[in-house]
Amino acid sequence: MYFWISGNHKKIAAFELQSLGATNINLSWQTFFFDYPHDIKQLQVGSLIKIWRIITIEEIDKMSKKSILWTDQKRLAQTLKKEWYYKRYKIIEPRKSDKELKQKWDEILALGKDQLWLVMHYQNIPLYETIDFDKPSRGMKIGMMPTKLTHTLLNIAVGEYRKKSTQEPTIYDPFVWFGTTSFLANALGYDTFGSDKNITQAKLNKKWRDEHQSKSDKKILFIKHDVTNPFNKKMLKNSNCIVTEWWLWPIINHRTTARESYNIQKDIYALYEDFLRHSINFFAKGSIIVITAPVHLQHDDIVPRFIEHYLDEKGIAYETCPEVYSRKWQKVGRQIIKIML
Ligand SMILES: C[S@@+](CC[C@H](N)C(=O)[O-])C[C@H]1O[C@@H](n2cnc3c(N)ncnc32)[C@H](O)[C@@H]1O
Repeated sequence: MYFWISGNHKKIAAFELQSLGATNINLSWQTFFFDYPHDIKQLQVGSLIKIWRIITIEEIDKMSKKSILWTDQKRLAQTLKKEWYYKRYKIIEPRKSDKELKQKWDEILALGKDQLWLVMHYQNIPLYETIDFDKPSRGMKIGMMPTKLTHTLLNIAVGEYRKKSTQEPTIYDPFVWFGTTSFLANALGYDTFGSDKNITQAKLNKKWRDEHQSKSDKKILFIKHDVTNPFNKKMLKNSNCIVTEWWLWPIINHRTTARESYNIQKDIYALYEDFLRHSINFFAKGSIIVITAPVHLQHDDIVPRFIEHYLDEKGIAYETCPEVYSRKWQKVGRQIIKIML
């Protein structure tokens, strides 16, 4: 059994964990547990901040590094320090990551005297920061998908794909723009394709990446493609995990009226119906598509409901994540839908 903590989007974290094969996921108010039937060291979860496993006092005794204890109860920390001869302890909020701790120490969470947990996994902030901020062409405000969320989408697709296939996942983003999905997929060791009706930004970023970062032996390729047309590049057939963020344009703000919102969503949906129709005809059975459908937060949201209706009509299996991803300053959120072809 493992103990986990995520950011604010707990149900998205549970959705990712479940796609990755975790079971008995518990997300009640204060307790977050799951079971994982495979090697936990291989589990790199985008939406989790930390994962702990239970540890006994005997194991702690044998550990070479002098561990730092975490507890929100100072009294408990002091008692444990005295009883076990720790050099020091540090009071750390479980959601926060402490650089010194991560690099030099083992982090132990003391939920009680007999309830000790050792951190097994931290979120990979340096990787997210490199992809988000180091590439020359970028722009969070104009709709670049945060790499951390991309990692969650990618895990949902790959985790689901691996449940049924032994083939290596190949990642394809048909709305790639700055290239976030492809750069992350490449860094995580997957072959990847990206396309867009405009691939200027992606190509610019790839040039920078090739010059500044060590190249992996994995393929990374950007091609021009407009999704209103059928897919016509044979090599795209090798993609089996299609991971993408939907068009959020034009910008929605507090002045957007209900009618404008409705018309914008109708146009967005028309574009994506084309994309879904062509995808169903083109990608192999067993492929997984993970998308973020835009959700207009001030007015009726219609896009996710239209997509669900379309997939129901076509008899395609899907799961909609029960929680919408949104940030405070945005009037439009993202709903994750996992489609199983
Ligand atoms: C929100 S952006 C994707 C951003 C990307 N996830 C990133 O992090 O850089 C949506 C993209 O959809 C592309 N797009 C819009 N209509 C398209 C179409 N008909 N065919 C292909 N791409 C299209 C736009 O050019 C834009 O790059």
